[in-house]
Amino acid sequence: MSNFKQKIVSGMRPTGKLHLGHYLGVIENWVKLQDEYNCYFFVADWHALTTKYDKTEDLHKNVIDVVTDWLACGIDPEKSTVYVQSLIPEIAELNIYLSMVTPQNWVERDPTLKEMAKILKTKEGTNSQISYGLMGYPVLMSADIMMFNAQVVPVGIDQVAHIEITRDIARRFNNIYQADFFNEPVPKLTKTPLLCGLDGNKMGKSFNNDIRISDDEETTLKKMMRAITDASRIRKDDPGHPDQCEVAFKYWQIFADEKTLEAVKSECEKGQRGCADCKRQLGNVINEKFAPIREKRRHLEKNPQIVKEIIQSGSKKARGEAQKVLKEVRAIIKMY
Ligand code: TRP
Ligand code: SF4
Repeated sequence: MSNFKQKIVSGMRPTGKLHLGHYLGVIENWVKLQDEYNCYFFVADWHALTTKYDKTEDLHKNVIDVVTDWLACGIDPEKSTVYVQSLIPEIAELNIYLSMVTPQNWVERDPTLKEMAKILKTKEGTNSQISYGLMGYPVLMSADIMMFNAQVVPVGIDQVAHIEITRDIARRFNNIYQADFFNEPVPKLTKTPLLCGLDGNKMGKSFNNDIRISDDEETTLKKMMRAITDASRIRKDDPGHPDQCEVAFKYWQIFADEKTLEAVKSECEKGQRGCADCKRQLGNVINEKFAPIREKRRHLEKNPQIVKEIIQSGSKKARGEAQKVLKEVRAIIKMY
Protein backbone atom coordinates (compact mmCIF):
# COMPACT_ATOMS: atom_id res chain seq x y z
CA MET A 1 0.00 0.00 0.00
CA SER A 2 2.49 2.58 1.21
CA ASN A 3 4.48 2.12 -2.00
CA PHE A 4 1.75 3.90 -3.95
CA LYS A 5 1.84 6.91 -1.72
CA GLN A 6 3.81 9.94 -2.79
CA LYS A 7 6.95 10.62 -0.83
CA ILE A 8 7.51 13.60 1.43
CA VAL A 9 10.82 14.78 2.83
CA SER A 10 11.05 17.64 5.31
CA GLY A 11 13.49 18.70 7.95
CA MET A 12 14.18 21.13 10.74
CA ARG A 13 17.41 22.49 12.09
CA PRO A 14 18.17 21.42 15.68
CA THR A 15 17.40 24.69 17.43
CA GLY A 16 16.44 23.02 20.74
CA LYS A 17 13.04 22.97 22.40
CA LEU A 18 10.36 24.01 19.93
CA HIS A 19 7.67 26.64 20.46
CA LEU A 20 3.99 26.94 19.65
CA GLY A 21 4.83 28.68 16.37
CA HIS A 22 6.69 25.53 15.25
CA TYR A 23 3.71 23.45 16.29
CA LEU A 24 1.09 25.44 14.40
CA GLY A 25 3.30 26.32 11.44
CA VAL A 26 4.99 22.98 10.81
CA ILE A 27 4.46 20.01 13.11
CA GLU A 28 0.66 19.98 13.18
CA ASN A 29 0.78 19.88 9.39
CA TRP A 30 3.33 17.06 9.35
CA VAL A 31 1.16 15.02 11.71
CA LYS A 32 -1.76 15.31 9.27
CA LEU A 33 0.38 14.43 6.24
CA GLN A 34 1.53 11.15 7.77
CA ASP A 35 -1.53 9.22 6.59
CA GLU A 36 -1.68 10.49 3.06
CA TYR A 37 2.05 10.38 2.26
CA ASN A 38 5.07 8.25 2.87
CA CYS A 39 6.88 10.74 5.12
CA TYR A 40 10.57 11.23 5.92
CA PHE A 41 11.17 13.72 8.72
CA PHE A 42 14.71 14.52 9.78
CA VAL A 43 16.84 16.77 11.95
CA ALA A 44 19.14 18.83 9.71
CA ASP A 45 22.22 18.85 11.91
CA TRP A 46 24.58 19.52 9.00
CA HIS A 47 22.51 22.55 8.11
CA ALA A 48 22.95 23.77 11.68
CA LEU A 49 26.69 23.75 11.07
CA THR A 50 26.39 26.09 8.08
CA THR A 51 26.03 28.98 10.53
CA LYS A 52 26.79 27.53 13.97
CA TYR A 53 29.88 25.43 13.25
CA ASP A 54 31.60 27.07 16.23
CA LYS A 55 28.70 26.60 18.67
CA THR A 56 28.21 22.85 18.86
CA GLU A 57 28.14 22.33 22.63
CA ASP A 58 24.33 21.93 22.69
CA LEU A 59 23.97 20.20 19.32
CA HIS A 60 23.46 16.69 20.69
CA LYS A 61 20.92 17.78 23.28
CA ASN A 62 19.12 19.93 20.73
CA VAL A 63 18.67 17.01 18.35
CA ILE A 64 17.06 14.98 21.14
CA ASP A 65 14.86 17.91 22.17
CA VAL A 66 13.55 18.44 18.64
CA VAL A 67 12.71 14.79 18.10
CA THR A 68 11.13 14.56 21.57
CA ASP A 69 8.85 17.46 20.66
CA TRP A 70 7.91 15.85 17.33
CA LEU A 71 7.01 12.56 18.95
CA ALA A 72 5.02 14.24 21.72
CA CYS A 73 3.06 16.16 19.08
CA GLY A 74 2.09 13.00 17.24
CA ILE A 75 4.81 12.24 14.72
CA ASP A 76 4.42 8.47 14.65
CA PRO A 77 7.49 6.35 13.90
CA GLU A 78 5.15 3.55 12.78
CA LYS A 79 3.93 5.78 9.98
CA SER A 80 6.88 8.06 9.26
CA THR A 81 10.62 7.63 9.05
CA VAL A 82 12.32 9.84 11.63
CA TYR A 83 16.08 10.27 11.34
CA VAL A 84 19.10 12.50 11.80
CA GLN A 85 20.73 13.87 8.65
CA SER A 86 24.34 13.22 9.68
CA LEU A 87 23.57 9.55 10.34
CA ILE A 88 22.97 9.16 6.58
CA PRO A 89 26.43 9.75 5.07
CA GLU A 90 24.96 8.90 1.64
CA ILE A 91 23.44 12.39 1.68
CA ALA A 92 26.94 13.86 1.80
CA GLU A 93 28.01 11.81 -1.22
CA LEU A 94 24.93 12.81 -3.18
CA ASN A 95 25.67 16.40 -2.17
CA ILE A 96 29.04 16.10 -3.95
CA TYR A 97 27.48 14.89 -7.20
CA LEU A 98 24.80 17.57 -7.11
CA SER A 99 27.33 20.29 -6.34
CA MET A 100 29.20 19.37 -9.55
CA VAL A 101 26.17 19.99 -11.77
CA THR A 102 25.01 23.15 -9.99
CA PRO A 103 26.16 26.40 -11.63
CA GLN A 104 27.66 28.77 -9.07
CA ASN A 105 25.29 31.60 -9.93
CA TRP A 106 22.25 29.50 -9.03
CA VAL A 107 23.31 29.47 -5.39
CA GLU A 108 24.59 33.04 -5.49
CA ARG A 109 21.19 34.41 -6.46
CA ASP A 110 19.20 32.34 -3.94
CA PRO A 111 17.25 35.06 -2.03
CA THR A 112 16.92 33.05 1.19
CA LEU A 113 20.67 32.51 1.25
CA LYS A 114 21.27 36.21 0.59
CA GLU A 115 19.06 37.00 3.56
CA MET A 116 20.97 34.57 5.80
CA ALA A 117 24.25 36.08 4.67
CA LYS A 118 22.97 39.57 5.46
CA ILE A 119 21.88 38.60 8.97
CA LEU A 120 25.21 36.89 9.56
CA LYS A 121 27.12 39.96 8.44
CA THR A 122 25.24 42.32 10.72
CA LYS A 123 26.07 40.15 13.74
CA GLU A 124 29.24 41.34 15.39
CA GLY A 125 32.24 39.07 15.95
CA THR A 126 35.03 37.81 13.78
CA ASN A 127 33.30 34.62 12.72
CA SER A 128 30.75 36.34 10.51
CA GLN A 129 32.43 35.17 7.29
CA ILE A 130 30.17 33.26 4.94
CA SER A 131 31.59 29.77 4.65
CA TYR A 132 31.81 27.58 1.59
CA GLY A 133 29.40 25.27 3.45
CA LEU A 134 26.79 27.99 3.84
CA MET A 135 27.01 28.73 0.10
CA GLY A 136 26.13 25.09 -0.42
CA TYR A 137 23.02 25.29 1.78
CA PRO A 138 20.50 24.87 -1.06
CA VAL A 139 22.52 22.10 -2.70
CA LEU A 140 22.66 20.16 0.57
CA MET A 141 18.93 20.68 0.93
CA SER A 142 18.50 19.30 -2.58
CA ALA A 143 20.53 16.25 -1.56
CA ASP A 144 18.23 15.77 1.47
CA ILE A 145 15.18 15.77 -0.78
CA MET A 146 16.59 13.89 -3.78
CA MET A 147 18.19 11.21 -1.58
CA PHE A 148 14.70 9.74 -1.21
CA ASN A 149 13.43 11.04 -4.55
CA ALA A 150 10.60 12.88 -2.82
CA GLN A 151 7.77 14.43 -4.85
CA VAL A 152 6.51 16.83 -2.19
CA VAL A 153 8.29 19.05 0.35
CA PRO A 154 6.20 20.77 3.04
CA VAL A 155 7.99 24.01 3.97
CA GLY A 156 7.41 27.59 5.03
CA ILE A 157 7.33 30.35 2.44
CA ASP A 158 10.95 31.34 3.23
CA GLN A 159 12.19 27.95 1.99
CA VAL A 160 10.44 27.97 -1.39
CA ALA A 161 13.43 29.51 -3.19
CA HIS A 162 15.53 26.55 -2.06
CA ILE A 163 13.00 24.09 -3.46
CA GLU A 164 13.06 25.94 -6.77
CA ILE A 165 16.79 25.31 -6.93
CA THR A 166 16.17 21.66 -6.10
CA ARG A 167 13.83 21.40 -9.06
CA ASP A 168 16.42 23.04 -11.31
CA ILE A 169 19.16 20.72 -10.08
CA ALA A 170 16.99 17.64 -10.57
CA ARG A 171 16.16 18.69 -14.13
CA ARG A 172 19.77 19.50 -14.92
CA PHE A 173 21.00 16.17 -13.53
CA ASN A 174 18.45 14.28 -15.63
CA ASN A 175 19.48 16.24 -18.73
CA ILE A 176 23.21 15.91 -18.30
CA TYR A 177 23.15 12.17 -17.69
CA GLN A 178 20.22 11.52 -20.00
CA ALA A 179 18.43 9.71 -17.20
CA ASP A 180 14.83 10.19 -16.25
CA PHE A 181 15.72 9.54 -12.64
CA PHE A 182 15.03 12.36 -10.20
CA ASN A 183 11.58 13.81 -9.54
CA GLU A 184 11.15 17.57 -9.61
CA PRO A 185 9.70 18.07 -6.12
CA VAL A 186 7.03 20.65 -5.40
CA PRO A 187 6.82 22.76 -2.24
CA LYS A 188 3.69 22.39 -0.13
CA LEU A 189 2.91 25.49 1.89
CA THR A 190 1.15 25.46 5.25
CA LYS A 191 -1.92 27.67 5.42
CA THR A 192 -2.00 28.28 9.18
CA PRO A 193 -1.67 31.93 10.13
CA LEU A 194 1.69 32.79 11.67
CA LEU A 195 1.71 32.90 15.46
CA CYS A 196 3.56 36.03 16.56
CA GLY A 197 5.65 36.26 19.71
CA LEU A 198 4.31 37.64 23.01
CA ASP A 199 5.78 41.04 22.13
CA GLY A 200 4.16 41.13 18.70
CA ASN A 201 7.36 40.34 16.78
CA LYS A 202 8.21 37.07 15.07
CA MET A 203 8.16 34.25 17.63
CA GLY A 204 11.65 32.99 18.33
CA LYS A 205 13.65 31.43 21.07
CA SER A 206 16.40 34.04 20.81
CA PHE A 207 13.88 36.88 21.16
CA ASN A 208 12.64 35.54 24.49
CA ASN A 209 9.04 35.96 23.35
CA ASP A 210 7.99 32.36 22.86
CA ILE A 211 5.85 29.79 24.60
CA ARG A 212 7.39 26.35 24.29
CA ILE A 213 5.62 23.10 23.68
CA SER A 214 7.54 21.84 26.71
CA ASP A 215 6.61 24.72 29.05
CA ASP A 216 4.53 23.70 32.05
CA GLU A 217 1.13 25.23 32.77
CA GLU A 218 2.40 27.73 35.30
CA THR A 219 5.13 28.98 32.97
CA THR A 220 2.62 29.28 30.14
CA LEU A 221 0.27 31.37 32.29
CA LYS A 222 3.11 33.55 33.51
CA LYS A 223 4.38 34.14 29.97
CA MET A 224 0.87 34.78 28.69
CA MET A 225 0.53 37.71 31.11
CA ARG A 226 3.34 39.44 29.17
CA ALA A 227 1.34 39.41 25.93
CA ILE A 228 0.63 42.82 24.46
CA THR A 229 -3.01 43.96 24.51
CA ASP A 230 -4.93 47.05 23.40
CA ALA A 231 -2.56 49.81 24.60
CA SER A 232 -5.32 52.45 24.78
CA ARG A 233 -7.04 50.64 27.67
CA ILE A 234 -6.23 51.94 31.12
CA ARG A 235 -9.00 50.67 33.42
CA LYS A 236 -10.44 47.21 33.05
CA ASP A 237 -13.92 48.57 32.31
CA ASP A 238 -12.68 50.82 29.48
CA PRO A 239 -14.17 49.66 26.18
CA GLY A 240 -11.48 47.64 24.36
CA HIS A 241 -10.60 47.26 20.70
CA PRO A 242 -9.90 43.64 19.83
CA ASP A 243 -8.55 44.64 16.42
CA GLN A 244 -5.94 46.78 18.19
CA CYS A 245 -5.13 44.09 20.71
CA GLU A 246 -1.79 43.23 19.16
CA VAL A 247 -1.15 39.80 20.57
CA ALA A 248 -3.79 38.44 22.96
CA PHE A 249 -6.72 38.74 20.59
CA LYS A 250 -4.70 37.31 17.70
CA TYR A 251 -4.02 34.28 19.88
CA TRP A 252 -7.73 34.01 20.66
CA GLN A 253 -8.43 33.96 16.94
CA ILE A 254 -6.13 30.99 16.57
CA PHE A 255 -7.01 29.01 19.70
CA ALA A 256 -10.71 29.71 20.35
CA ASP A 257 -13.80 28.23 18.76
CA GLU A 258 -16.17 30.66 17.06
CA LYS A 259 -18.55 31.00 19.99
CA THR A 260 -15.84 31.78 22.53
CA LEU A 261 -14.23 34.22 20.12
CA GLU A 262 -17.51 36.12 19.71
CA ALA A 263 -17.95 36.31 23.49
CA VAL A 264 -14.39 37.57 24.02
CA LYS A 265 -14.85 40.18 21.33
CA SER A 266 -18.14 41.57 22.57
CA GLU A 267 -17.18 41.51 26.25
CA CYS A 268 -13.94 43.31 25.39
CA GLU A 269 -15.73 45.94 23.32
CA LYS A 270 -18.25 46.56 26.12
CA GLY A 271 -15.57 46.86 28.77
CA GLN A 272 -16.82 43.75 30.54
CA ARG A 273 -13.51 41.96 30.38
CA GLY A 274 -10.24 42.96 32.00
CA CYS A 275 -7.06 42.22 30.07
CA ALA A 276 -5.44 40.29 32.92
CA ASP A 277 -8.44 37.98 33.27
CA CYS A 278 -8.69 37.68 29.52
CA LYS A 279 -5.08 36.56 29.19
CA ARG A 280 -5.36 34.14 32.11
CA GLN A 281 -8.33 32.56 30.42
CA LEU A 282 -6.40 32.40 27.15
CA GLY A 283 -3.49 30.74 28.94
CA ASN A 284 -5.88 28.13 30.30
CA VAL A 285 -7.24 27.42 26.82
CA ILE A 286 -3.69 26.91 25.52
CA ASN A 287 -2.81 24.72 28.49
CA GLU A 288 -5.84 22.57 27.85
CA LYS A 289 -5.00 22.12 24.19
CA PHE A 290 -1.41 21.13 24.91
CA ALA A 291 -2.08 19.00 28.02
CA PRO A 292 -1.93 15.60 26.25
CA ILE A 293 1.11 16.64 24.21
CA ARG A 294 2.94 17.84 27.29
CA GLU A 295 2.07 14.71 29.21
CA LYS A 296 3.52 12.59 26.44
CA ARG A 297 6.57 14.80 26.35
CA ARG A 298 7.21 14.38 30.06
CA HIS A 299 7.03 10.63 29.60
CA LEU A 300 9.59 10.72 26.76
CA GLU A 301 11.81 13.08 28.72
CA LYS A 302 11.93 10.58 31.56
CA ASN A 303 12.71 7.80 29.09
CA PRO A 304 15.22 9.29 26.64
CA GLN A 305 16.22 5.81 25.45
CA ILE A 306 12.83 5.60 23.68
CA VAL A 307 13.69 8.69 21.66
CA LYS A 308 17.23 7.49 20.97
CA GLU A 309 15.98 4.10 19.76
CA ILE A 310 13.48 5.75 17.42
CA ILE A 311 16.27 7.90 15.97
CA GLN A 312 18.54 4.87 15.54
CA SER A 313 15.99 2.62 13.87
CA GLY A 314 14.58 5.42 11.70
CA SER A 315 18.06 6.38 10.57
CA LYS A 316 18.91 2.77 9.82
CA LYS A 317 15.82 2.42 7.66
CA ALA A 318 16.44 5.72 5.90
CA ARG A 319 20.05 4.74 5.30
CA GLY A 320 19.06 1.48 3.67
CA GLU A 321 16.90 3.34 1.17
CA ALA A 322 19.51 6.00 0.61
CA GLN A 323 22.04 3.31 -0.26
CA LYS A 324 19.76 1.94 -2.98
CA VAL A 325 19.26 5.38 -4.53
CA LEU A 326 22.96 6.17 -4.33
CA LYS A 327 23.88 2.92 -6.07
CA GLU A 328 21.70 3.91 -9.00
CA VAL A 329 23.09 7.44 -9.02
CA ARG A 330 26.66 6.11 -9.10
CA ALA A 331 25.73 3.87 -12.02
CA ILE A 332 24.07 6.74 -13.91
CA ILE A 333 27.14 8.95 -13.51
CA LYS A 334 29.40 5.97 -14.32
CA MET A 335 31.42 6.19 -11.13
CA TYR A 336 33.96 3.40 -10.64
N1 TRP B 1 16.34 24.72 5.60
C1 TRP B 1 15.22 24.18 6.32
C2 TRP B 1 14.84 25.20 7.41
O1 TRP B 1 15.67 25.93 7.87
C3 TRP B 1 15.53 22.85 6.93
C4 TRP B 1 15.80 21.81 5.89
C5 TRP B 1 17.01 21.28 5.61
C6 TRP B 1 14.85 21.21 5.01
N2 TRP B 1 16.87 20.36 4.59
C7 TRP B 1 15.58 20.31 4.21
C8 TRP B 1 13.47 21.36 4.82
C9 TRP B 1 14.95 19.54 3.21
C10 TRP B 1 12.84 20.61 3.83
C11 TRP B 1 13.60 19.71 3.04
O2 TRP B 1 13.70 25.20 7.82
FE1 SF4 C 1 -7.24 42.05 24.28
FE2 SF4 C 1 -8.69 40.60 25.91
FE3 SF4 C 1 -7.74 42.98 26.70
FE4 SF4 C 1 -9.67 42.85 24.89
S1 SF4 C 1 -9.80 42.18 27.02
S2 SF4 C 1 -7.86 44.13 24.78
S3 SF4 C 1 -9.11 40.96 23.78
S4 SF4 C 1 -6.55 41.13 26.19
